[in-house]
Amino acid sequence: MKYERFILWNGKMLDTTNEQPHIDLEERGLQFGDGVYEVIRVYKGTLHLLDPHITRLYRSMEEMELTLSLSKAELIASLYELLAKNQFQEDGIIYLQISRGVQPRVHTFSFDATPTIYAYIRKKERPALWIEYGIRAITEPDVRWLRCDIKSLNLIPNVLASTKAERKGCKEALLVRNGIVTEGSHSNFFLVKNGTLYTHPANHLILNGIVRQYIISLAHTLHIPLQEESFRVHDVYKADECFFTGTTFEVMPLTHLDGTAIQNGQVGPITKLLQKTFMQSFSTSSVFWS
Ligand code: PDD
Repeated sequence: MKYERFILWNGKMLDTTNEQPHIDLEERGLQFGDGVYEVIRVYKGTLHLLDPHITRLYRSMEEMELTLSLSKAELIASLYELLAKNQFQEDGIIYLQISRGVQPRVHTFSFDATPTIYAYIRKKERPALWIEYGIRAITEPDVRWLRCDIKSLNLIPNVLASTKAERKGCKEALLVRNGIVTEGSHSNFFLVKNGTLYTHPANHLILNGIVRQYIISLAHTLHIPLQEESFRVHDVYKADECFFTGTTFEVMPLTHLDGTAIQNGQVGPITKLLQKTFMQSFSTSSVFWS
């Protein structure tokens, strides 16, 4: 299954049935992973939580000293155009990537390269059964660099951890650095203990997920106490409830960690309440371009 027909390619809408994008061998995204990206959820043709994704993208670029001539408003307009051009009305994701551009291969970057920017849409159904019944995860050492707050293209530790999880029949790897639970390989992590939600603080050790931020705001609205505080693996086993959050995961219950059930593998009431409230954020909106 391929991505949708029209793609955004360096400021143009490319029809991939007639034309394929050409990537130079010395594109720095390809050679150094010198770039940033976002994965944005599309529910029934509507972009979900777009503004915070774009804000985080520009922050990531700033931290990488990557300058784009396109304004946030122009970028947003081209994503809407991408949806409209593909007449996309289903559930999917937009993958958006901006990399440094083409330069002769040396480690030092110069500021005169033009960034490469592309975006495409891919159909993706909601993982409804996993959301309802929960998933299993393994623990893995968090061996990533110390700027996990930047959504950069360098994902090898995440890729290896995720693959290891899958080989063990699990859907996620929970990363642990110096005994502290940081986040998942492609998601954030929360636990509930005595009615309070806990999640790792948004510092350089985790990506400040857009769904994470949204769940924190929902917790405030629903008067669920929340602490951005670090915790250890044994706290996870003793938790009343646990879940991952992410653009494709939504609010994903964790039922078993390294083969051991957490609270008999049942999905807890606070998790269910947050799932229900999260779903309301996209099930009530209408298709923007009709
Ligand atoms: N990943 N932490 C990491 C390491 C992630 O890669 C992601 C998302 C998250 C959750 O962020 P958000 O709520 O903004 O999706 C946390 C995306 C989906 C990916 O790389 O495919």
